Amino acid sequence: MSQQFDVVVIGAGPGGYIAAIRAAQLGLSTACIDAFKGADGKPALGGTCLNVGCIPSKALLQSSENYHALTHDFAAHGITVKGSQFDAAAMIARKDGIVSKLTTGVAFLFKKNKVASLHGVGRLLGRQQEKWQIEVRNGDAVELVEAGHVIVATGSPPRPLAGFDVDNDTVLDNAGALALTAVPKRLGVIGAGVIGLEMGSVWKRLGSEVTILEAAPTFLGAADAQLAKEAFKTLTRDSGLDIRLGVKLGALKRGRDLAIGYEQDGKAETLKVDKLIVAVGRVPNTEGLGADAAGLKLDERGFVMVDEFCHTSLPNVWAIGDVVRGPMLAHKASEEGVAVAERIAGQKPHLDFNSIPWVIYTSPEIAWVGKTEEQLKAAGVEYRKGSSSFAPNGRALGLGQAQGNVKVLADAKTDRILGVHVIGPMASELIAEAVLAMEFKASSEDVARTVHAHPSLSEVLHEAALAVDKRALHG
Ligand code: FAD
Ligand code: NAI
Repeated sequence: MSQQFDVVVIGAGPGGYIAAIRAAQLGLSTACIDAFKGADGKPALGGTCLNVGCIPSKALLQSSENYHALTHDFAAHGITVKGSQFDAAAMIARKDGIVSKLTTGVAFLFKKNKVASLHGVGRLLGRQQEKWQIEVRNGDAVELVEAGHVIVATGSPPRPLAGFDVDNDTVLDNAGALALTAVPKRLGVIGAGVIGLEMGSVWKRLGSEVTILEAAPTFLGAADAQLAKEAFKTLTRDSGLDIRLGVKLGALKRGRDLAIGYEQDGKAETLKVDKLIVAVGRVPNTEGLGADAAGLKLDERGFVMVDEFCHTSLPNVWAIGDVVRGPMLAHKASEEGVAVAERIAGQKPHLDFNSIPWVIYTSPEIAWVGKTEEQLKAAGVEYRKGSSSFAPNGRALGLGQAQGNVKVLADAKTDRILGVHVIGPMASELIAEAVLAMEFKASSEDVARTVHAHPSLSEVLHEAALAVDKRALHG
């Protein structure tokens, strides 16, 4: 007799594990199947995000930022340190410790919430008498479980690039880039997207010469153009990333070093590096899921097709996170997970895609929520804008990070905030106020009338809101 559940979640990334916990909180008997194994070969919950994504990358970004501050910024504070050293292996070990703390934390949360944790590959077999049959395969061991509802949260692997096969020795994907135990002298990156910029920043701060080859002629196409322009200037001029746009890749030759042939402005070039990170996007993961046999519809790019409530083409089968349309972000996956669990429990949750924040953890950080100026213009929406710089902000000066600015876009007639774009220190934290304001349908006047602590970085958002009405006090 197979184990019976109300809900079975396939995948324990930030989409799946959160969905499982929320379903269990709502009184549904829940199991979560996950196949991920850590570098030690042992099962590790938390998916891409906790194991080889958000968390380890932020750990390395912080370590490298500390090192950079020590070698470049501390002197201005009157601090000189003699005989300082950097140990990449120790940095990686610290990162591994953080990952392990969080992945075991998910196992603890599963126990606490009585979520059954099953290790193996989950495959949809079919449906009988309103119950889905799911196979859980762990090597030769096969178990069958049954559930009224299935939530597919199988995430995404890196998009492969023909001719640039990843070996995670010299040609690296995100997992390899997060595990280097020595600083490469010359590091190449293919793709100036989020991973390329974040991982490029880590190794640049630690001393690598970093060259990023990007196919698109424009930088960060999804971002507000003014923000993207500012980011390009800062990341190339101040952070020292060599970002080459509009590149057409040729062949990769693997020898003593890696030689990447490419064309830029019609000119043939070769980039020679010691290590190469390939980060050209990610693809939905439906491998091993049995989508075809079960009749689960995928779109032309391989994403599981869902409606606005994350319901798939099959009855009581839901899908969330990277494996469905929308931004590939951990918080988007988690919020979809919560919404689906609540919907299964009979509630009517709502998730506003327009207020999902984006953050790129470079230095300075880049963050935005809502519409860009280009999107508003294209939609014919009349708007007013207010900008304010971190340059005169006392807290930013104290931190030694007075670069960047905040831009608030508000509807010209109603003053409702339509978008907020930040480049500057702690943009990742500052954007939360803008997200909340947008969720509450706030006007720029609401933010302008809100008391902001002094001195704080949030005063720059306050000033930008005041600037929408041309009454900035420090601008
Ligand atoms: P995943 O986290 O990919 O989890 C899916 C899980 O399902 C995996 O454990 C997988 O092994 C398992 N699985 C797949 N198929 C099966 C099956 N058939 N049976 C059983 N198990 C299966 N996002 C942010 O919001 N902020 C960040 O700072 C950020 N940084 C990132 C940095 C890097 C380097 C990378 C690569 C990604 C980053 N992301 C970030 C993106 C984020 O990691 C993803 O959006 C998020 O992990 C998606 O969650 P998910 O639950 O949909 O899938
Ligand atoms: P991405 O989509 O952000 O960027 C990929 C880049 O590669 C694009 O700029 C694209 O034009 C370029 N590219 C594609 N093919 C190319 C080619 N043949 N030659 C040169 N350039 C090419 O994807 P990335 O960086 O791999 O990250 C995947 C996803 O992971 C992100 O989209 C994001 O959703 C998530 N992520 C989020 C983070 C965050 O929230 N801070 C951090 C890291 C990843």
